[in-house]
Amino acid sequence: MTIAVVGSSNFDFAARVAKLPVRGQTVSSRAYKTGPGGKGCNQALAVARLGVSPVFISKLGDDMLGKQLIETLATEGLDTTNLIVADEAQTGIALISIDEAGENMITVVGGANMTMTRTDLHEKQELLRNCDYLLLQLECPVVAIDCAIKYAREGNAKVILDPAPVADLVVMRDLLALTHIVTPNQSECLALTGIDPVDEATASSASIKLHDMGPETVIIKMGGDGAFYSSGGQTGMVPGFVVNTVDTVGAGDCFNAGLAVALHGGQPLKDAVRFACATGALSTTNNGAAEAAPRLADVLSLIEGNA
Ligand code: RIB
Repeated sequence: MTIAVVGSSNFDFAARVAKLPVRGQTVSSRAYKTGPGGKGCNQALAVARLGVSPVFISKLGDDMLGKQLIETLATEGLDTTNLIVADEAQTGIALISIDEAGENMITVVGGANMTMTRTDLHEKQELLRNCDYLLLQLECPVVAIDCAIKYAREGNAKVILDPAPVADLVVMRDLLALTHIVTPNQSECLALTGIDPVDEATASSASIKLHDMGPETVIIKMGGDGAFYSSGGQTGMVPGFVVNTVDTVGAGDCFNAGLAVALHGGQPLKDAVRFACATGALSTTNNGAAEAAPRLADVLSLIEGNA
């Protein structure tokens, strides 16, 4: 039994800028960095670095960027056998700007990610039926996500959905009805509930609305402030870790990876959320998306150092 990740793979192009551009503005950068990205790929690589070999189902183009991505992931020791190569689509890319505080703006060209079909998932159904946690985000077609959820639920897997980017609210309601654990960040929570979770009280109010949509467990990622959790009548805030943030790209993806790994390892929810916070926080101390995912030893030592 393992963790399955179904989702996007992108080739990221990230440029450092003094200030993020406003509408109509052109800003300059001295250099850019490339590397593996996409919310699915970031989650999968982070799960692997935390010591669990995930089943990773994703779709790339039959092009140079796709080949380079697969090579990089294989070098990392990630099992690439369930990556699907699309016939007539380009590998997804993300154009990222990062300012001096580490905050970012991202434009994604979905490419092959958006060609994932029910048939693709049908061919992987046994893997999905045999996982115990399924990690999902929303950079692939909803029909494919929905299909992955159905196979995983047939095998009694717990479904963890990162609603990023938030889809149409009617679609979101359908997906949330099939989700066990939902992990929005603050802006996604606002889009889903109309409540801006700026503190524990507002996060708690928002969590009630999210529970009403289906998930038995709600975890709201609150950036540097940590995370709010609510499950089975138990609620609370897990404080964030103070780290030297240089780049927040992929932090939410690493959070979800940490959460899945900790729950898969049998940790109680509050400890798992703390492990997730530590994983997300450490990822912000390095540049890059997937490549910034921390290793298990570093996450454990951050937690121990803050006991
Ligand atoms: O969550 C961060 C990711 O969002 C980046 O790696 C980029 O590819 C976009 O998908």
